Amino acid sequence: MKIGVEAMACHIPRHYVGLDDLADLRGVDRRKFSSGLDVQNMAIATPAEDAVYLAATAAEKVLEKFDIDPNDIGAVVVGTETGVDHSKPIAVYLHEALSLRTNCTAFEVKHACFGASAGLSWAVDWIASGRARGSKALVVATDIARYGLETAGEPTQGAGAVAMVVSDEPRLLSLEPALVGEYTRNVMDFWRPLHRSEALTDGHYSIECYLTALRACIDDAGPDLPSVEDFDACLYHVPFPKMALKAHSCHRSAEIGSDTARTDAERASYETRVAPWLSLNREIGNVYTGSVYLALLDLLRQGQVPDGGTVSLFSYGSGCTASLRVGQLVDGYHRYADRLDPADQLAARVRLTIEEYEELMSEPGSQGLADWQTHPEAWGLPASRFTYLGTKSHVRQYVGI
Ligand code: CAA
Repeated sequence: MKIGVEAMACHIPRHYVGLDDLADLRGVDRRKFSSGLDVQNMAIATPAEDAVYLAATAAEKVLEKFDIDPNDIGAVVVGTETGVDHSKPIAVYLHEALSLRTNCTAFEVKHACFGASAGLSWAVDWIASGRARGSKALVVATDIARYGLETAGEPTQGAGAVAMVVSDEPRLLSLEPALVGEYTRNVMDFWRPLHRSEALTDGHYSIECYLTALRACIDDAGPDLPSVEDFDACLYHVPFPKMALKAHSCHRSAEIGSDTARTDAERASYETRVAPWLSLNREIGNVYTGSVYLALLDLLRQGQVPDGGTVSLFSYGSGCTASLRVGQLVDGYHRYADRLDPADQLAARVRLTIEEYEELMSEPGSQGLADWQTHPEAWGLPASRFTYLGTKSHVRQYVGI
């Protein structure tokens, strides 16, 4: 039985900031962001576009675009580090938003940028065990990546959600159920204390931890893991696109056994297996747990890799845990390119001035308030389905939920 991703969709906030504008305002050489980090734009979520809104909108899209009957969904798993409540999971809001059946399981997974990968793994095992009884799982990655104004992490922010339907009828990508490399170690590279909406990070150390985790996952996967050059595409967690270059270099040197300077062969391998699928990450910025799946969506929408192509997926969650998985593109996957393409969403975006961006980032939000209202129109948003309207007696209010 093949198990994997049957359908995918993403939702991106309506506003974005140009990294050149940010570099100019911060007095930083533009090339540091455009070449040093390889970032171009980053999506900025308004208060009306919280993690529930982003997730529900992506989830509704995936069911509609791939004609999936909501009654076929028997599990909803949301991966996020941007939860809206210490107790109540976003998955339950989604369950109502999509009018799913009640004999369904629903939960949220938190582990920095790893939550959705844990959800995907769980969904594959749930189906393989037979417990799904023919049902499909909806796995959604949703995050708002924030470090705050004038921090080192500022150019590596972003926001967005990626929704996947996982089933035993994958139309896009099948996953090897048992060929996995895993790694966990307690490190303080990135964290967000309960009272904060902005993450704290030891940035350079976090890069070191990420690469150590990747090497350990390659080791743990063992001899059945294909050689890096045998993959048609290598997808990595993408906090900023340059990280994927560092990761690919590390992946190759873990096999070749040296940490030598970048060679032509390494550059060619990166240009073929990694770089082509970073265009959405470059436009949207860091979507934390969804970022490796944004790269997957980019690959699928381009349809350049032949049917049956082999793909590696490396997911890293600070703190830290990581996994390396192997997937195979399903025959005919490129037929779905149009349904996957978020070009219309990107084209409809509004570029913020840096003054508008700073105002938005300084918005105090609803944290800790019993009653609070936000007005989507004030941010140039129509009050569409699932937009967040604020709190009443500590209860979150959404259009249509
Ligand atoms: N022209 C061209 N390149 C330039 C340049 C210029 N004028 N100035 C600097 N650069 C290059 C640097 O050489 C460097 O490239 P290399 O790493 O390839 O050498 C790059 O631009 C960045 O420069 P710095 O390292 O000096 O930048 P920084 O100290 O301001 O911080 C950062 C960079 C650590 C990534 C920071 O943005 C940060 O803390 N980000 C958040 C943490 C993060 O993303 N960690 C990633 C791993 S953890 C993870 O993946 C989980 C997650 O999602 C958060």
